[in-house]
Amino acid sequence: MYKTHTCGELRKEDVGKDVSLAGWVDRRRDHGGVTFVDLRDRFGVVQLVTNPDISPAAHHALDPVRMEWVIKVDGNVRRRPEGMENPDIATGNVEVEVTKVEILNPARTPPFMIQQEEEVDEQTRLKYRYLDLRSDRMRDNLILRHKVVKYIRDYLDERDFIEVETPILFKATPEGARDYLVPSRVHPGEFYALPQSPQQLKQMLMVAGVERYFQIARCFRDEDLRVDRQPEFTQLDLEMSFVEREDVMELIEDLYTQMVQEITPEKKIYQTPWPRLSYEEVMNRFGKDNPDIRFGMELVDITDLVAESEFRVFSSVVEKGGDVRGIKAPGLGEYSRNQIDEFTEFVKQYGAKGLAYIAITETGEERSTFLKFIDENTKAALYQRMGAEDGDLLLFIADQQEIVLDCLGRLREELRDRMDLVDGDTLAFCWVIDFPLFTWNEEEDRWDPSHHLFTAPMPEDVKHLDEDPSQARGQQYDLVLNGYEIGGGSIRIHDGELQEKVFDLIGLDREVARERFGHMLQAFSYGTPPHGGIAPGIDRLCMLLANEPNIREVIAFPKNQSARDVMGDAPSSVTEEQLEELHIKLDLD
Ligand code: AMO
Ligand code: AMP
Repeated sequence: MYKTHTCGELRKEDVGKDVSLAGWVDRRRDHGGVTFVDLRDRFGVVQLVTNPDISPAAHHALDPVRMEWVIKVDGNVRRRPEGMENPDIATGNVEVEVTKVEILNPARTPPFMIQQEEEVDEQTRLKYRYLDLRSDRMRDNLILRHKVVKYIRDYLDERDFIEVETPILFKATPEGARDYLVPSRVHPGEFYALPQSPQQLKQMLMVAGVERYFQIARCFRDEDLRVDRQPEFTQLDLEMSFVEREDVMELIEDLYTQMVQEITPEKKIYQTPWPRLSYEEVMNRFGKDNPDIRFGMELVDITDLVAESEFRVFSSVVEKGGDVRGIKAPGLGEYSRNQIDEFTEFVKQYGAKGLAYIAITETGEERSTFLKFIDENTKAALYQRMGAEDGDLLLFIADQQEIVLDCLGRLREELRDRMDLVDGDTLAFCWVIDFPLFTWNEEEDRWDPSHHLFTAPMPEDVKHLDEDPSQARGQQYDLVLNGYEIGGGSIRIHDGELQEKVFDLIGLDREVARERFGHMLQAFSYGTPPHGGIAPGIDRLCMLLANEPNIREVIAFPKNQSARDVMGDAPSSVTEEQLEELHIKLDLD
């Protein structure tokens, strides 16, 4: 071994010991003939010191050494002189007086200072990810992620789950995104699809009698990237037989509650048991199905109050079947016209045509787009419904319901950030249930599954499938944390006939259904247990536990926002021979 100790473990109690250390040079300083080097490894930093009068050879061996060189040293631990202690680091009471230096590997000048990576452009960090990962922040994120996955594995192992690996090269498993395809050399013209999730395979494992399955599973989806989306990401994929919706939800609630207490004890869970809210309720209150429930400022429907108003912006929308809803920002009543215009521009990005407002100063003066068009009674009713008080800013959108909810839902979270209403150490988990089983797809003139096509309807809603599918709710549950969807699952259809009915409703031709999912229908005919499961996203959970702004920060080698690995430069072109072998011709015009 190169080391007797790590750079993070030496303490007062070690004073006097002879030690060997190895690591990277974090910093070097030369002071009046004495050289100080902060030596870093994964476990911490320790100060080395050489004195030309005591160990001239060691001292001069350090002459060429610069930042990020890899060295090994032998030396003796001593107490730092009084007043020279550094309380910011764990080894701050001691230093190692070096007697021998061995250079293991020199380093080019790094493109950025390792611990100051936060100020570095992200593309540069990603290009030199191996340097970026040397920082405390990134190391801590890797360790946190390791702990999360280990906790999950141990917890589930104790409860009779087994981890089963499922293939990466398989058939399309749709979850609503595009597939990544892999051409087959041996079967010209045929393709594997990388799994968008192991959904079909875990259901097959239930038919196979596994009963309690999980997998830390990699999933692949070709879709537009966002702060919480990567083309490949990781799920805790889980499936159980002979369970109901409650059983799956309770398991995950217990697992995550215990895990948070163990791994991030500084975090507080906002509400226990986790609230269970219906889809309809969260849409009405928060404008989105993955709400941040850590703060109020809920949406208020004023459609009925302004339906007849002379403010045409409102009444004409209501005539066309649209909605008018508002949100109250306490304390922003003094905002200037320009500041309010920024909110207008914000919601316009998401399709709103404008933003009407009432701004009430601390002394009760009102400025507004539309107050002059409504009578005193309406105004009083509106103020009462919004709970308006002096100092408030009221903001309203009139449009089709979908746009109103989406824009106000986003505005609510924008206000949260501007007004600094929440702290990252509060974890507000909640379950969203009672989703509609289908949503209507205008463009394609058919029903789409809201979750995926294997989700079972609520037993009492099966009757609606024939008459009015819009009325059918699914046995689906989404897990939401601080405004992010961190998991989704459902009780599945385990009956071949009901599954075929769902295929019909979503306009999947029976032939096509057989070709794509025949293996499942066939499996289901050999004795299928009732089953259900869930797949919490690991990346999003770690992002929130680490208080990071996006999931790239908790993935060792993520893709950038245009789905490119800038370190390895992938995707990249391949040789003519490779294409020929795969029977592929490019048409790049
Ligand atoms: P779903 O498609 O809802 O369900 O995905 C489950 C969870 O996976 C995470 N997730 C993502 N994370 C990062 N990048 C992405 N591109 C991405 N897409 C999804 C989210 C999401 O909640 N097979 C079903 C689960 C089931 O029914 O058991 C499924 O995959 O946290
Ligand atoms: P306009 O008549 O378009 O000039 O709009 C008058 C005011 O109403 C402006 O302050 C707009 O921002 C606002 N406004 C316009 N359309 C909407 C809408 N659909 N919802 C809310 N406010 C709107």
